[in-house]
Amino acid sequence: MVLNRIKQFWHALFSKVGPAEITFVKRYLNEQEQSLFFSMDRPTQTHCVRVARTCLKLLSKNKQVNEKVLIKSALLHDIGKPANLIKTMDRVLIVVMTTLTPRLYHRMLQDKLFSGHFYLAAAAHANHCLAGADIARRANLSPDVIYLIENHHRSEQAGEPPELKLLREADALN
Ligand SMILES: [Fe+2]
Ligand SMILES: [Fe+2]
Repeated sequence: MVLNRIKQFWHALFSKVGPAEITFVKRYLNEQEQSLFFSMDRPTQTHCVRVARTCLKLLSKNKQVNEKVLIKSALLHDIGKPANLIKTMDRVLIVVMTTLTPRLYHRMLQDKLFSGHFYLAAAAHANHCLAGADIARRANLSPDVIYLIENHHRSEQAGEPPELKLLREADALN
């Protein structure tokens, strides 16, 4: 868990969206979806590409899954994070606090004990699933994709679609 977090942070700092990533995105997203994808900031774009690639690896073990829905959702799952609001230091603090002291972090957020820029970044981060689903709804994405975006941080529930389980698993690995 902690190692994964360090890896995530490293990627957030240094990963690039190169030609291979752009080709990958264009293979799965139509033009309108691509403009949503490229409206995200660079660390979020690279994170989403890594999550989508991990989904493809996990997918080979699960034939019940709708690949198109899963990969579109993976590429857009963090669309609700406002571009360039959540800075590198915010990411570090959010990751450290949600990993080491998740209850305290959420309590502090609820009781508005954070202030200034960090409060805005943390609140936006906490709300990104709902915000992302709103953006996806306004862009008329398919209900399946909207559902995955909206629920990708929800804890596992009985009867949920297999795509959600895979997306959550891939997100946690990246
Ligand atoms: Fe997320
Ligand atoms: Fe994510």
